[in-house]
Amino acid sequence: MATELETPVQILLAEERDGVFVLTLNRPKAMNSLTGDMSAQATEILAGIAERRDIRVVIITGAGDRAFCAGADLKERRDGDPDAKWTQRTLLWNFVRTIHQLPQPAIAAVHGWCLGGGFEVALFCDLRIASEDAVFGFPEMTLGAFPGAGAAIVLPRLIGRARATEVFITGKRLKAREALEFGIVQEVVAKEQLMNKAFETAEKIKRSSSRAGAAGIKRMINVGADLGFDGAVALNEALRRPLEASQDYAEGIKAFFEKREPRFRGY
Ligand code: CAA
Repeated sequence: MATELETPVQILLAEERDGVFVLTLNRPKAMNSLTGDMSAQATEILAGIAERRDIRVVIITGAGDRAFCAGADLKERRDGDPDAKWTQRTLLWNFVRTIHQLPQPAIAAVHGWCLGGGFEVALFCDLRIASEDAVFGFPEMTLGAFPGAGAAIVLPRLIGRARATEVFITGKRLKAREALEFGIVQEVVAKEQLMNKAFETAEKIKRSSSRAGAAGIKRMINVGADLGFDGAVALNEALRRPLEASQDYAEGIKAFFEKREPRFRGY
């Protein structure tokens, strides 16, 4: 059964269901655009989730039916104060970095507009599932800047430099199917199926990997893949060695011989 968790204010909704934590950006009238306050709260909530051994997967989505998130709240940037803009950007950067550093895999369940900082939130998740109506893009270039919360770092790594350049400098808007073809999303589903598919994927993750195994592979992919060979080997060894003694690894092997599903407990 779903349990409502308290958040300081309702610009974010937090829900927990059988080891899956769902964070919903909740300003649908403003296309779930991210105020600095919202990014700060999301960072704090996810930092707490990172410590939770019982939470195995995180899902991030947007409330309403028009947008996952239309980026940073431009109203907060309207008066042009450079320091205020930088502060808002830094709070968003902290939010996406926290997603990146979560030990749990994060799934972005994307519908409607997914623009600018919203696209960055999705990119820093480990998997992206989109509904048919999703549209991805970076309007920052047309606003006179460039994406400030890490898209320029992660998008070229995900889809290659040529395609990333095209997406950035032509202001290209990618419909869901095109995002699938580009390798940005793993799957496109009917809108009414989006959350079901996200939960189904979360269940598959829970069944298929232990907490420590998923955390290790997430770090190898997000960090190890960018290291030189020797550095990647060192990280691989550092992450892999403690797993030999983990109870979940022992349970996985035991379950294999007992011809049953493993019951991973998070240590
Ligand atoms: N910030 C604040 N409010 C936003 C917003 C944003 N990013 N995007 C949409 N809204 C608000 C609109 O102002 C409007 O509010 P009002 O009803 O009070 O006027 C409401 O959401 C609905 O928006 P529209 O009327 O514009 O709806 P639409 O269907 O015509 O267009 C849209 C939808 C294409 C998403 C359009 O709103 C849009 O282009 N939004 C801006 C997207 C953008 O430029 N994002 C990048 C922000 S910069 C960033 O993210 C940078 C970074 O460095 C991290």
